Amino acid sequence: MSNHHQKLKKVLKPYRNLVVVGGNWGDEGKGKIIDLVMAHYDVTVRFSGGANAGHTVYATNGKKLVSHLIPCGLAQNKECVMGRGELVDLKLFLEEIEQAKKVLGKRLPPIHLDQMSPLWTPWHGLLEAWLEYVKGKGKVGTTGKGIGPLEGLYKLRMAPVVGQIFLDKNKLVEVLKPLYDALLPIFKELSKVGKGLDPSLRRVPTPLVVADLLREYAKQIKPFTTDTSFVLFKAAADHRRMLFEGAQALGLDSRFGTYPFVSSGNSAAFGAAEGTGLPMQNFGATLMVVKTLPTRVGAGPFPSEMWTRDKAMSFAKDHLGLFVTPPTPSLEKRGKDRRVEFLAEKLRLINSGQAKGADYSQYFQVLGDERGATTGRGRSVGFIDIPWLAYAIRINGPKWLALTRFDMLSSVKTIPVVVGYKLNGKLLSPGQLPPPWDMEKVKPVFENWTGWNENIFGVNRGANLPQPAKLFLSRLEKHLKTQILLVGTGPGREDIVVRADK
Ligand code: IMP
Repeated sequence: MSNHHQKLKKVLKPYRNLVVVGGNWGDEGKGKIIDLVMAHYDVTVRFSGGANAGHTVYATNGKKLVSHLIPCGLAQNKECVMGRGELVDLKLFLEEIEQAKKVLGKRLPPIHLDQMSPLWTPWHGLLEAWLEYVKGKGKVGTTGKGIGPLEGLYKLRMAPVVGQIFLDKNKLVEVLKPLYDALLPIFKELSKVGKGLDPSLRRVPTPLVVADLLREYAKQIKPFTTDTSFVLFKAAADHRRMLFEGAQALGLDSRFGTYPFVSSGNSAAFGAAEGTGLPMQNFGATLMVVKTLPTRVGAGPFPSEMWTRDKAMSFAKDHLGLFVTPPTPSLEKRGKDRRVEFLAEKLRLINSGQAKGADYSQYFQVLGDERGATTGRGRSVGFIDIPWLAYAIRINGPKWLALTRFDMLSSVKTIPVVVGYKLNGKLLSPGQLPPPWDMEKVKPVFENWTGWNENIFGVNRGANLPQPAKLFLSRLEKHLKTQILLVGTGPGREDIVVRADK
């Protein structure tokens, strides 16, 4: 057992069930953290989100596995449960099963899909296109996976659910028809304004066509479909250790995120109970994953943002040549290409005190290859934001934090950190967050914290971190009153520091 796992075993042993959630606006690297702690759990569970989520993990044979719906514990052959709170696109689910067979071999671990999960139809995509269209400038900038309509129509008691595809055809058409009838006037409007919309969206399938489409999957789906709350009830009774994988992040939680610029489900830790049907007393500890420099795609408040959202998002598209896949943030490994020169020039500006917000943003966007996994959109980057994290900690109540991409700060002499929010000239208390109509007026209060020269890419022992980096972490912990258990220093499995003996 590696040194990391020896330490983690001791730390995690008392917590039979662990909830892992994101603390910013998604893309914190939850997949990598889940992959690390997964070794200490038997069952892996999703409780919210759907096709909008995206994790890339690597199986033990080194092969890549991209998952949107199936929990990422699949890569380690753990039993997988897709809780009732998950939104399901059956085509995508079956594609993931096929991919898993290729990567892991024909014998997959047990995978459970809930018979009552809201079920995607092409109409959900059309409704989303319409809603974004009518919102105009105020649009959410969704991932386009029909997430809002799925969750919303379910709450309106209009959504089909997975298990209904096993009904006979007439019954299924009966289920689908009221939804179609309710949406038909919208579809008609949509076809009138169809111009800027995807032409494929203008053809509206009838309930009969949708019923046929869904029933096509029935045979393949059947072996996976069940009441997952009962599976979990039995797993808990058998004292199996369970890891609950959050999707998206607190800033995108529909209730406590930056509404209305949020996703539609429960991304906060409390969602683990709601989305699985397991009683509250099962949830002992939460690990909140925080990105050292938070990012955001889509629209909505982001108080510590370095640059203008639109510019940051299009920067990645307009300068694709500067971005690399997969990211190689190692400063030493810089060759003599355009990307290298670009990064060197931006770092020079930053360290000579001449950098503007745009320079900081471009430097970290390129260094971290900040582009969305599900949509490929550029991500806008923000400075470390203590008031936001204080809020996220207040709602999620994490026992520990995992701080990812800490290596991104290497070689930056002085690091601006947001330590407070001011609203109308008044400093807010830690953990206070204004309502959305005031969020845009919030002024971040900065402090400059000392950085370090050394490149910490790939450092995996706390003792090997430079002294200023250690001080930086302790200072952050003091502000947040929460232990930073894990510190990510690179994309590899072993590129992490476990600070267990703190
Ligand atoms: P939706 O989840 O597609 O409805 O999108 C709502 C908002 O959440 C948009 O701003 C999306 O960009 C954002 N979002 C949804 N899923 C993710 C994710 O996995 N990472 C980052 N942002 C996300």
